[in-house]
Amino acid sequence: MEKDVERILLSEEQIKSKVAEIGAGISRDYAGEEPMFVGILKGCFIFMADLMRTVEVNCSMDFMAVSSYQGTNSTGAVKIIKDLSGIIEHKHIILVEDILDSGVTLNYIKNYLSVRNPASIRIATLLDKPARRKADIVADYSCFEVPDEFVVGYGLDYNEKYRNLPYIGVLSPEVYGGK
Ligand code: IMP
Ligand code: MG
Repeated sequence: MEKDVERILLSEEQIKSKVAEIGAGISRDYAGEEPMFVGILKGCFIFMADLMRTVEVNCSMDFMAVSSYQGTNSTGAVKIIKDLSGIIEHKHIILVEDILDSGVTLNYIKNYLSVRNPASIRIATLLDKPARRKADIVADYSCFEVPDEFVVGYGLDYNEKYRNLPYIGVLSPEVYGGK
């Protein structure tokens, strides 16, 4: 497994302290409110679990699933595979993503949910890859900016593999036949 990772970009410790910082910010910003975390499956699952445990306001959670990348390239098309189970009208929504890349996915989801009249929608992303942005979207909470390289670990996959790595690493181009 290690041999497929070219180099470690973010260590477990770095991730842990940054996630706690973001969680503290959310606790401050939502004091007196009861936000609902909406995780975008599957990449969000580790980040969301860690983030929510650092948040000190009452909150709820749900998940959505959308069609995503095949390999390292986006198809550009977004399809809802799993929708929210409850009503979000008048609720403060925090969308939780593993990585904001082209931004097409989150932009679609944000528009898709906004017609249900939530009180607000904000975005919390673990990683931000601004170099590849296509949609006009910015994260309200972002842990780390990453360079334009394919990264895996801490929830992020390449063809469903490497999600279990406790750190974030750059995938060796040999694995996907790049460079
Ligand atoms: P976007 O619509 O281009 O912003 O796509 C976001 C989704 O693409 C993420 O939720 C990831 O599943 C996937 N993705 C984009 N870049 C990477 C990467 O470097 N490693 C792993 N997954 C990625
Ligand atoms: Mg993925």
